[in-house]
Amino acid sequence: MIRVITYGTFDLFHEGHYRLLQRAKQLGDYLIVGVTTEEYDQTRGKLNVVDSLMTRIENIRKTGFADEIIIEESQGQKFRDIKKYQIDIFTVGSDWTGQFDYLNDYCKVVYLDRTKNISSTMLRAQNKRIQRIGIIGSGRIAERFIPEAKLVSGISAQGVFNPHIESAARFASKWEIDYYKSIEEFYSAVDAVYIATPHETHYEYIKSALEHGKHVLCEKPMVLQRAQAEELFSYAKERKLILFEGIKTAYCPGFTRLLGIACSGMIGNIRNVEACFTKLEKSDTRELTDIKYGGSFTELGSYCMLPIIKILGDNFTEVRFDTINGDNGLDLFTKVSFSYPNGLGTVTCGLGVKSEGRLLIAGTEGYIVAEAPWWKTTYFEIHYENPNAVEKYSERFLGDGLRYEIGDFLSMINGSNKSEFKLTRSESVIFADVMERFLSENRS
Ligand code: CTP
Repeated sequence: MIRVITYGTFDLFHEGHYRLLQRAKQLGDYLIVGVTTEEYDQTRGKLNVVDSLMTRIENIRKTGFADEIIIEESQGQKFRDIKKYQIDIFTVGSDWTGQFDYLNDYCKVVYLDRTKNISSTMLRAQNKRIQRIGIIGSGRIAERFIPEAKLVSGISAQGVFNPHIESAARFASKWEIDYYKSIEEFYSAVDAVYIATPHETHYEYIKSALEHGKHVLCEKPMVLQRAQAEELFSYAKERKLILFEGIKTAYCPGFTRLLGIACSGMIGNIRNVEACFTKLEKSDTRELTDIKYGGSFTELGSYCMLPIIKILGDNFTEVRFDTINGDNGLDLFTKVSFSYPNGLGTVTCGLGVKSEGRLLIAGTEGYIVAEAPWWKTTYFEIHYENPNAVEKYSERFLGDGLRYEIGDFLSMINGSNKSEFKLTRSESVIFADVMERFLSENRS
């Protein structure tokens, strides 16, 4: 019996896939098809696969060519599969010619002619119009956005708006995009906006963007009052627009995996989550001089609240703030303690005090620890009572990591809700609620 294996994403199943599987099956007697997981596709830069893993598997099953369907989760798996399934022939399309020659030592490698003029990429582009995204704000954060947006196919950075026109013009010429003299002109040139302005301006910009029918990706903290978050989300929903808070951690593959493990029961019932993020800032930066909205909690609190609210939920019975303030009254270091009926959560953030940035999730059977920069999770460990039983996980995090949230924002615009769970509307509302409580206690 000749055993054949092939791999692929098989998104938006098309004729090219069908013909490949048909010929792969003809190469032998038993065909195994490896289908990539969403996480694996993300790590190899395929950021906007449309169909879910289950749909892709189902489409392959329906062809009747596959005798067995397996999941491909990581690089290096092909080699192991060839041994494990005693494969005689490895095959893929001719777009990969040469790239799998190294497997020749273990089995025969066959590159099948690729079917012309069809690909998932082409279908994705045909199905969905390219979304033109405009950026409001032209500061440090906006700078990071453009190179990352370029990596997400289906979205293109169109232009920038800043009421300080000179700053917008400089930014536009650096990144070779347009700039606009009025916000009306800006809105008429874009389908979606990315808001990267000072925190307190977010509410007005989001509202006006939604009023102009634009989808919105807004930097964290999205807004600083609960009622504002509720109002904006319900307005977006009414107008069938996407409003999306850009906390990049929520969308990065490593963090999603960590949460999945935390919530799977592997460390028992979770009783304590501690998240710390500190970053020493120069005293003349906006974060340490904006007397009303600067300070460490408004700047870094969203990252630290994320794992706490995601894991322990929003039913905390008490939230307490302890701060060390600088001479101008801004918090240089803040601890926020959440009490739950059966758990505790602690946020620690600082702009003027340095501490060990760590995420620690403690359960009744073990704990998960991710060291700094856990907010760009690439590595974490699970520890148990037995000190020798440490489990280690690593995941890629590419570039500045904004590509993941941009990819998810785009897929939501295109009607997929597969990423909605990563940061829900009600979680964003809670973040705004806690920000509001903090500002009302900390700023007089
Ligand atoms: N394939 C093919 N002919 C095509 C498209 C794909 O023979 N026109 C083959 C690929 O070479 C691969 C398998 O189908 O062996 C799965 O490919 P996949 O990457 O999932 O499909 P693409 O359409 O190439 O996807 P994308 O555009 O996202 O790269």
